[in-house]
Amino acid sequence: MKDKTPAAILGSGKIGTDLLYKLLRSRNMRCACFVGRREESEGIQRARKLGVPVSTGQAQYLLENPDSYEIVFDATSAIAHAEHSQQFAELGKMMFDLTPSHVGAPVVPTVNAERMHSCRDVSLVSCGGQVALPIVHAVSGQCETVDYIEMVNTSASQSAGLATRLNIDEYLETTEAAIAGFSGCEKVKCLLALNPATPPAHMRVTITFLASGFDRLRVTAAIGKMVAEVQRYVPGYALITEPVFSDGKIIVLVRVTGQGDYLEEYAGNLDIINAAAVYLGELYSDNLNKLRLDHGAQEVLACSF
Ligand SMILES: NC(=O)c1ccc[n+]([C@@H]2O[C@H](COP(=O)([O-])OP(=O)(O)OC[C@H]3O[C@@H](n4cnc5c(N)ncnc54)[C@H](OP(=O)(O)O)[C@@H]3O)[C@@H](O)[C@H]2O)c1
Repeated sequence: MKDKTPAAILGSGKIGTDLLYKLLRSRNMRCACFVGRREESEGIQRARKLGVPVSTGQAQYLLENPDSYEIVFDATSAIAHAEHSQQFAELGKMMFDLTPSHVGAPVVPTVNAERMHSCRDVSLVSCGGQVALPIVHAVSGQCETVDYIEMVNTSASQSAGLATRLNIDEYLETTEAAIAGFSGCEKVKCLLALNPATPPAHMRVTITFLASGFDRLRVTAAIGKMVAEVQRYVPGYALITEPVFSDGKIIVLVRVTGQGDYLEEYAGNLDIINAAAVYLGELYSDNLNKLRLDHGAQEVLACSF
């Protein structure tokens, strides 16, 4: 426990609460503080019951107690993150942004995890982005040209907190920009439907490509390989059917089944982004430990002369 990297979660809503359960299982991080802004927040109550240190002092609490954590996971809102990014950068803290603020460097574990070692504000883009971007990377790498990409995300309304609803414009803009950036395709359209059906609907994402100059078998193989890689940190990430090829279109249908940490299995939208954040946080933490060890070894060497 002492050797685990202390991490703080800022934001006690749906994303923050699900992330808390995942962080409690982390192999090399521990939750040093769960921070919200209302004592009656369900997330704050749950964290208290779990014996996790809590505060309702918002970012200010963490800014005033910088020695208690190394990493901040921001699960508040896009507008709040823009302010947090600057404040925590001044303290030299590492931030993983779960909001679609479009401020930090967009990172997807299976595509460009190494990018995080050269920045202090890592954007997880969005839940739809974390589902679609691995597929976008796999497919666009197999096509001579990709003229258009469309991503449709259907998630259960019950899994979307107020901040998610307020951030829908930011969600669409940030996800479209990331898909364009990762694929080189300029025409990108994203759509989000929050389905209020009961029982709640599983998260499903459909990614459609208008492309040319590809081999179906190679595209299918690249997608299959990528799905297996994502499953290493999100076991419930799966294709609904084999990729569909029709009139220059490639259609990929993905379903994400959550681990049922906070909400039930339907809420794959919480899992896909939170599991990615924990995966990257653990890599960062491994790197910190290595730097500490190297530094320690240098000190031992220095002492022996
Ligand atoms: N739900 C999803 O499927 C999903 C997936 C990926 C990314 N996201 C993104 O994650 C963020 C959170 O979404 P959510 O669904 O978890 O919404 P939520 O349930 O409304 O949670 C947001 C939490 O942050 C708190 N908060 C807001 N501004 C704050 C500030 N300045 N300082 C401290 N706490 C603050 C809110 O406090 P109160 O309780 O007082 O309102 C609330 O507890 C959004 O940006 C959303 O776009 C959501």
